[in-house]
Amino acid sequence: MILQIAKRINQLIVRFWELSNKFANKKTMRTGLILLLSVLVFSSCGGGSSNKEKNNTPATSDVTKNPDYQKGLELVSKSNCLTCHKVDEKLTGPPYREVANKYAGMPDTIIKHLAGKIIGGGNGVWGEIFMTPHPDISQADAEAMVKYILLLKK
Ligand code: HEC
Repeated sequence: MILQIAKRINQLIVRFWELSNKFANKKTMRTGLILLLSVLVFSSCGGGSSNKEKNNTPATSDVTKNPDYQKGLELVSKSNCLTCHKVDEKLTGPPYREVANKYAGMPDTIIKHLAGKIIGGGNGVWGEIFMTPHPDISQADAEAMVKYILLLKK
């Protein structure tokens, strides 16, 4: 009698054990699946965006990362240039991108020449309107501005 009860209890314990094992397995399987899925989604998203970056803005041809571009833009922004020039729009002066396109492929001496024009002012290339002189700008700074402008070519 006691033996039978013990056997029964034993059976029950075994059954409970099996059941909880099954449960635990299901749970771990589910957690594993969720983990796997999130890893997949995460990696595919990450891969996608890094691919996009590679296609759209390759580090080598992203002109805004060029130190010459950054230095020149900073100087141009600090001076009064942008009251007469915009990158793509004609104000009193020609758009910087048109200036860049005009002189694209010219020898480097053009940088000195244009820097001199910024400092001394002048007219006649783009029309009759004068660019005011900028005698307070150093030759080096003016050349840095020109380098930025020439990098805007399309
Ligand atoms: C008062 C308006 C005005 C301001 C301020 C001005 N510009 Fe100009 N800029 C002009 C005009 C007008 C021209 C066209 C001159 C010409 O036809 O020769 C010009 C032409 C230029 C050119 C082309 C020159 C050429 O010979 O093709 C460059 C480069 C230039 N500007 C850069 C600058 C920079 C850099 C600054 C700021 C330091 C500046 N400009 C400030 C009006 C201005």
